[in-house]
Amino acid sequence: MEPAARIEQLRALLREASHRYYVLDAPTLSDAEYDRAFRELEGLEGANPGLLTKDSPTQRVGAQPSEKFARVPHTRQMMSLANIFGDEDLVEFDARIHKLLGEEKVTYVFEPKLDGLAVTLIYERGRLARGATRGDGLIGEDVTANLRTIKAVPLELQGKPPPVFEARGEVFIGKKDFVRFNAEREAAGEPAFVNPRNSAAGSLRQLDPRETAKRPLSIFFYDVGETGGLEFKSHLEKLEALKAFGLRINPENKTCSSLDEVRTAYSALLERRHQLIYEIDGSVVKVDSEDQRRRLGAVSRTPRWATAYKFPAEEEATTVEDIQVQVGRTGALTPVAFLKPVHVGGVTVSRATLHNEDEVRRKDVRKGDRVFLRRAGDVIPEIVRVITESRPPEGLPEFSMPTACPVCGGPVAREEDGAILRCTNLSCPAQLIGRLRHLASRSALDVAGLGEETCARLVATGLVKAPADLANVYSLTRDQWLGLERMGEKSVDNLLAALQASKKTSLRRFVYGLGIPQVGEATARALALRFPSVELLVGASFDDLQAVRDVGPAVALQVSEFLSKAENRDAIARFLTAGVAPEPEPVASASGPFTGKTVVLTGAMTGYTREEAKAEVERRGGRVSGSISRKTDLLVAGEDAGSKLKKAAELGVKVVDEAGFRALLEDAK
Ligand code: IVH
Repeated sequence: MEPAARIEQLRALLREASHRYYVLDAPTLSDAEYDRAFRELEGLEGANPGLLTKDSPTQRVGAQPSEKFARVPHTRQMMSLANIFGDEDLVEFDARIHKLLGEEKVTYVFEPKLDGLAVTLIYERGRLARGATRGDGLIGEDVTANLRTIKAVPLELQGKPPPVFEARGEVFIGKKDFVRFNAEREAAGEPAFVNPRNSAAGSLRQLDPRETAKRPLSIFFYDVGETGGLEFKSHLEKLEALKAFGLRINPENKTCSSLDEVRTAYSALLERRHQLIYEIDGSVVKVDSEDQRRRLGAVSRTPRWATAYKFPAEEEATTVEDIQVQVGRTGALTPVAFLKPVHVGGVTVSRATLHNEDEVRRKDVRKGDRVFLRRAGDVIPEIVRVITESRPPEGLPEFSMPTACPVCGGPVAREEDGAILRCTNLSCPAQLIGRLRHLASRSALDVAGLGEETCARLVATGLVKAPADLANVYSLTRDQWLGLERMGEKSVDNLLAALQASKKTSLRRFVYGLGIPQVGEATARALALRFPSVELLVGASFDDLQAVRDVGPAVALQVSEFLSKAENRDAIARFLTAGVAPEPEPVASASGPFTGKTVVLTGAMTGYTREEAKAEVERRGGRVSGSISRKTDLLVAGEDAGSKLKKAAELGVKVVDEAGFRALLEDAK
């Protein structure tokens, strides 16, 4: 084949592969195949410099570093959006539109609002000619060389584009890429970026495109500018055209034919926000019809036909009013920051845990500091950093941990790994209250009506003075309960009934309820399976404990220390005397097909939900794991099983389908 023809062939292959990989997210070429073709093309171009063109896939990093960016006027203004923050604002936005359009029906397009940097790309005769940032909306900066390095930006459009076509979108860095990139920077001793938005903006404004090429930038297109004579009746048509030209549009975009549909789309997006692989700070609601857009017009630089419907901020600044040390049920001393209440992530937050002394040191949080507080999704609010710039010039006193328990005044000891300080007095009121609450919690003995306040009163009035007294909740008389502050007849009767019912429980709940440090529900279950009675558990040696699957040496040590203390043994004995009767876990047969096996579930089954399938396996002595590895014994693959099936084949893991799974379950009955 002539070099010219082969070069064209390779370019077409690589372009198609990039498009499938970066735009359609459906690659057809392996990375190695891509690299081979790329190197062959580079070689041919090197040998035939006359055939080298600027739009070759090898020429993404072409230009030399610039001194500074040239200014480019936008032929069509790049507008920005007004922000709205809640349903009231949304109703107002919609009402204004209907006031101007009368009774007409309005269709909205709902899009995620990516948190990146707006850019515009001008294609002339289908080729990328120029790219610019938004700037002030009228004049931007020429960042063509940098935009060319973004793999999702085609250097050449597909289909039949008009002589001039301008595409607009948002450049961003995905969350994972951001974390990886930041880790690399830190390893290289370079300062990390604060968030993906900043790093996307910073990366695009590098003077040296070779530097930009190293940054994992991506793009979604959401609008057109100059259309070279192409006419669009609606936003959806524009999105279709972008897609047809090979420009990546967001698959999350939705059409909404009523305000209610916008609401639903908004809630759904807010819910999924943290599952998305890129950061969004809200949504954009746009009127679909071009004709309606024209009639609605704009107010200065913001259109009336679109708005940014933002999510509640996940990061806010506030003041640390105090740092107090709390004592938990295991005696651990936890510094807690008491904050000036602030609305963040959709809720009002007035305190944030500082975890331990090391954490306070690392962040250097002090009473009186201004701090950034973050609450993402359902995640516990966290102080991200101190705004040291706001600290008074004379400074603030450093925080230090107390040398005695702030609740009982008893001695504190540092745990072996050093991070945690614990109050060593097992009769410390804070520990007793914590243990009572834990015992009554839903996953433990599940005693409704034994809440924080009641537990605190039991301790305050001396009805519970030591661990062994924890069992007193089962022996207190009706009158004694009634004697506690704020306990009415009805609540006492309910509580007594709940206590009575809680005596019949499972061993795993009881073990969990004891509140052994580091023993969560899963470990409690593992212990209960291995030691099917309280006596056997109490008699277990450190080695016995350590031999239990899922119990490592650190946990085994905690368990054996806990069980070796006379106070705790007394407490356990008193529970049993009081009538608490933990039932052993149903024992799986010693040799069934699931006994001791690690099973992974994937795909959908018609007869079992994931939870049901898991329970069936566990009842038969198996363990269900989320990810497949060499240790996996069996993969149960339902419909549409994906990558796990492939991995199982690679690792030689046995695979069964739903019917096979059912048969094994029958076998193991
Ligand atoms: S449309 C006139 N759609 O938000 C409409 N903007 O102030 C122009 N953005 O500058 C923007 N995602 O940087 C639009 N799906 C989306 C967007 C989006 C993010 C950014 C863009 C724009 C700013 C609005």
